[in-house]
Amino acid sequence: MATRNKSAKTAAKGPRVEVKNEIRNERKSGSKPNRRDNGTIQTAKGKLGVMIPGMGAVATTFVAGVEAIRKGLAKPIGSLTQMGTVRLGKRTDGRSPKIKEFVPLAGLDDLVFTGWDIFEDNMYEAASNAGVLDQRLLDQLKPFLSSVTPRPAVFDHNYVKKIDGPNVKKGKTKMDLAEQLRDDIRDFKKTSGASRLVTMWCGSTESYIAAGEAHQSVKSFEKALRENDEMIAPSMVYAYASMMEGVPFANGAPNLTVDLPVMLELSRKNEAPICGKDFKTGQTLMKTVLAPAFKARMLGLNGWFSTNILGNRDGEVLDDPGSFKTKEESKLSVLEHILQPDLYPELYGDMYHKVRINYYPPRGDNKEGWDNIDIFGWLGYPMQIKVDFLCRDSILAAPIVLDLVLLMDLAKRCSELRGLGIQEWLSFYFKSPMTAPGLYPEHDLFIQLMKLKNTLRHLKGEELITHLGLEYYD
Ligand SMILES: NC(=O)c1ccc[n+]([C@@H]2O[C@H](COP(=O)([O-])OP(=O)(O)OC[C@H]3O[C@@H](n4cnc5c(N)ncnc54)[C@H](O)[C@@H]3O)[C@@H](O)[C@H]2O)c1
Repeated sequence: MATRNKSAKTAAKGPRVEVKNEIRNERKSGSKPNRRDNGTIQTAKGKLGVMIPGMGAVATTFVAGVEAIRKGLAKPIGSLTQMGTVRLGKRTDGRSPKIKEFVPLAGLDDLVFTGWDIFEDNMYEAASNAGVLDQRLLDQLKPFLSSVTPRPAVFDHNYVKKIDGPNVKKGKTKMDLAEQLRDDIRDFKKTSGASRLVTMWCGSTESYIAAGEAHQSVKSFEKALRENDEMIAPSMVYAYASMMEGVPFANGAPNLTVDLPVMLELSRKNEAPICGKDFKTGQTLMKTVLAPAFKARMLGLNGWFSTNILGNRDGEVLDDPGSFKTKEESKLSVLEHILQPDLYPELYGDMYHKVRINYYPPRGDNKEGWDNIDIFGWLGYPMQIKVDFLCRDSILAAPIVLDLVLLMDLAKRCSELRGLGIQEWLSFYFKSPMTAPGLYPEHDLFIQLMKLKNTLRHLKGEELITHLGLEYYD
């Protein structure tokens, strides 16, 4: 399918003393003490429990990666929270602490894991099947990975047509299933000794569903749960269960899941932050780098043809038209929002945008994303750009999962963020970022990065960076 444009608050709950701890941390990291923290941020004390519906390629690459890094076998390449810095003050100040030293994040040693899947494989078996990481590395991590076993899933074949598995919960109604998930959450918290939890959806892409009556309020959603309404997909049952337990929920797939009025209501009420949708990994990452460059230089766009071949289970699931439509919606919206054809009709008013995903088993997780981009310049002269990204899907996704887990936990501990609902400052990680109703999403990768870092500066009472810079010439 293709698109062608015609025109183109909450009370501060954390104790004050914890803020002082953070100031101390900041001093240690070489940055000056801040002027005033905005609200309070509770310290990241104790274990952080990571709960993952969908223990497939992305989830296992993430968990195995964390364990490999903890053992000193590898580095957290691609993770902003682990490797990134944040500049504070003027360019001449020389203050650029690491993000993980600037704000209080959980340490990797404090992460504990559980998950749900329709298959019975533990994380070692699932990672071996996914074939993303080297078997020798997985063997070194075997005792740990084998200990993470999947809890029975809430699953319905009608929402993911290409797969079926035996490890599935039974219940009379979807509300019963939600209750079973809530029991799982409480059980994990107790048995793991975690002081805090985060849910990270890494499950398959579900069939396309448009928001309907059942999704408009908590009342109508709960009625629909009790009546087994088909408008409620399994991912929504996990989201509901998490939020009822006050647990933040991040959505790595393009399913609506938490992008619904009911979830926003629940999230705000129970101070369980939400964000999504769809990890921004390969082709869309490139799109959100290149398109802003064309717009910055006022270069026109006639067409953008994107095609992918991939052979993992995700590719197989996306071979179903229902699941593909969900993904397609997520991938298509990007150009429209970045290029703003309404504002620049001569440049972007008649662009043709097409996205294809082709299941091709020999490639496994090593996706190839091709882009043919037809642009035009001065006096309308045409030019072409070809991008051929031979990427590794789950290698790009795993550090995003890590960052989201740590930053969603931060949001939950932060008095200014936890009651907001949608965490738009995490748009950086998503193809189809969630925003407040009526607000268009920001897709430009570098604006998203600035938004994320400025949010951290704001939380710590540091000056926001505007890049004005006139003061250097006074
Ligand atoms: N890898 C990337 O670059 C990337 C980028 C963006 C989005 N995503 C999305 O992330 C998700 C995971 O990708 P993947 O490559 O790990 O896929 P995968 O197929 O390897 O893993 C998904 C797992 O989810 C399980 N599952 C499906 N429905 C479930 C349910 N209701 N409850 C529990 N488990 C369930 C499946 O059995 C499978 O093991 C997909 O939705 C994919 O579209 C991935």
